[in-house]
Amino acid sequence: MISTEEAESITTLIQYQHGFVISKVMFTACELGVFDLLLESGEPLSSTTIAECLGTSPHGMELLLGACVALKLLRTERKDEQVLYGNTDLSSLCLGKSSPKSQYHHMMWFSESTYLNLHYLADAVREGKNLNEKSLNSKNFYEGIYRSEEQMQRFMSYMNGTWSLGGRDVIAAFDLSQFPQICDLGGSSGALAKECIYLYPYCTVTILDLPEVVRTAKKHFISEEEQRIHFIEGDFFEDLIPEADLYILARICHNWTDEKCAQLLTKVYKACKPRGGVLIIEMVLNEDRKGPLLAHLQSILMLVRTEGKERTPLEYSTLLSAAGFKEAERKKTRLYDAILARK
Ligand SMILES: C[S@@+](CC[C@H](N)C(=O)[O-])C[C@H]1O[C@@H](n2cnc3c(N)ncnc32)[C@H](O)[C@@H]1O
Repeated sequence: MISTEEAESITTLIQYQHGFVISKVMFTACELGVFDLLLESGEPLSSTTIAECLGTSPHGMELLLGACVALKLLRTERKDEQVLYGNTDLSSLCLGKSSPKSQYHHMMWFSESTYLNLHYLADAVREGKNLNEKSLNSKNFYEGIYRSEEQMQRFMSYMNGTWSLGGRDVIAAFDLSQFPQICDLGGSSGALAKECIYLYPYCTVTILDLPEVVRTAKKHFISEEEQRIHFIEGDFFEDLIPEADLYILARICHNWTDEKCAQLLTKVYKACKPRGGVLIIEMVLNEDRKGPLLAHLQSILMLVRTEGKERTPLEYSTLLSAAGFKEAERKKTRLYDAILARK
């Protein structure tokens, strides 16, 4: 007989082992359009109808829907001897393309790109670096994925969608009204810039990102009528950084080595107006490195894709003070942490 404690540990082990199957079930239901169809239909549907509408086999669909029910991504009800499937509140909120807080593009990026990258994890651990050369035919992750406009747009949609979950929280974590001129370095689609102008009516935001990203952001993500968001095409390592009161670096530092972060933060410090600041937004590791799990998983993703890693609060304050910034203060939000430091 095994003890209850042992049995619980074994259950956890088996759940970990199946973690990727869970992800793939959810990604596949997104990809095939199950959640979208149920959102559009407005009423629960039978497995056969769902299979017919989505052009799949009835057998495959029945098994996929069953797994989604067990994962609480779908719910069932019985009507006239038939089992009917509907979205749960969570799927309605997050898993359809048009869901209010859609994570569809996030799921698709994970399914089509991240999942494949993780195939090389053992090699990345052995070599201590990403394997972009093997998987993307380029040393630099961004160079690799931005070669195709379609892929760049998918990456930007993924970045954009994730902020529908926690963007407002990180921008509201500190009172940023004292910083009228904000520069979002590597600001991508402008999701956080939009949160800034929503929360702080007197600020303007300049997004500096690579030229192809800026062009795509203007075309697909930010309307021309948006007067308070401006763009600069550039490379934040090579080109001039514009003067501002506050610099946002959201999910930037975790892409780069300590040396590159130090180089960038020093450049930001020099460009920053007196009494200005820098806001770093990242998933921060606990000081004892025992968690949070999501930050550790992000670190693994950084290993396979970038030069970077997630860091502890002390590692961030060391980088910030080496660049000249002081008074670093950290606030935790549900998903990401915000660290504000002053010039
Ligand atoms: C992980 S994404 C984060 C995007 C955005 N800050 C967010 O949190 O949604 C990193 C961003 O940095 C940009 N980037 C990468 N290298 C860059 C460089 N050398 N100069 C300017 N932007 C760069 C990428 O194009 C991308 O938009």
